Amino acid sequence: MAWNPDTYNKFKAERFMPFYDCLNLVNIRPAMQVIDLGCGTGELTRKLADTLPKAQVLGIDSSEEMLNDSVAFTNEAVKFELRSIEEQVNRPAQWDLVFSNAAIQWVDNHHELIPKIVSIIKPNGQLVIQLPNQNQNLSNQLLDILADEAPFNTALHGWKRKSPVLDIEAYAQMLFENGSKEMTVFEKIYPLVLKDADALFDWVSGTALLPYLERLEAQTKEHFIAEYKTRLRSRFGGSPVFYPFKRIIMEARF
Ligand SMILES: C[S@@+](CC[C@H](N)C(=O)[O-])C[C@H]1O[C@@H](n2cnc3c(N)ncnc32)[C@H](O)[C@@H]1O
Repeated sequence: MAWNPDTYNKFKAERFMPFYDCLNLVNIRPAMQVIDLGCGTGELTRKLADTLPKAQVLGIDSSEEMLNDSVAFTNEAVKFELRSIEEQVNRPAQWDLVFSNAAIQWVDNHHELIPKIVSIIKPNGQLVIQLPNQNQNLSNQLLDILADEAPFNTALHGWKRKSPVLDIEAYAQMLFENGSKEMTVFEKIYPLVLKDADALFDWVSGTALLPYLERLEAQTKEHFIAEYKTRLRSRFGGSPVFYPFKRIIMEARF
């Protein structure tokens, strides 16, 4: 999927907030070996590294476009590699901290993924993950409904993005079953206060909208965008628009 770092970075302050909540959960120890799964441009990977004394941090991401920007955030403690999360969790390398901010919602089958992530954590290591709760976010639900309607269902050949995101109870259960000694798992609303519904469209266009647009040819794509904007406007009239964006955060020690 083609990511665009400029579109993604339009809402930096809002997107950084959950990262700082994750950072506060990290059990900081000297000289940690850390991996950041789905590191994007690497800006937050670098912030993470700068907080951890003498750590070595590797950021991996499957998007060349996002990783192109990581050069600016590389130093002796931080490096980046082009690789998928699926491939990384099947490698033997183990880490003191497995960190991931707003990325694993793009990987299918979390019942399979979470145990694999746990398997690359060293004894006494930690996992800290944040992901949007797509199933409960209206912006995702509206996309889902639109993709089911004509002519988009035909143009998409019946495809729509089925979110792999589970309830927080399921993540807590999996962490327990995979040996967590202690955990914190919670949902949090990150209030988005945006100028209007079109600004909400801009927010979604940096992430959840991408897989739909890349599957549609030009004319249907424009139609899909126009219809999605109309639905957002009818749900979120006026100015400013308040959008309660729900995210899941989990931290566990092993
Ligand atoms: C919403 S961005 C978050 C980036 C970064 N963690 C941050 O917080 O700024 C999601 C990132 O996940 C990456 N991604 C999506 N699916 C992936 C996969 N299967 N393997 C590796 N990276 C993936 C995307 O390329 C994108 O850079």
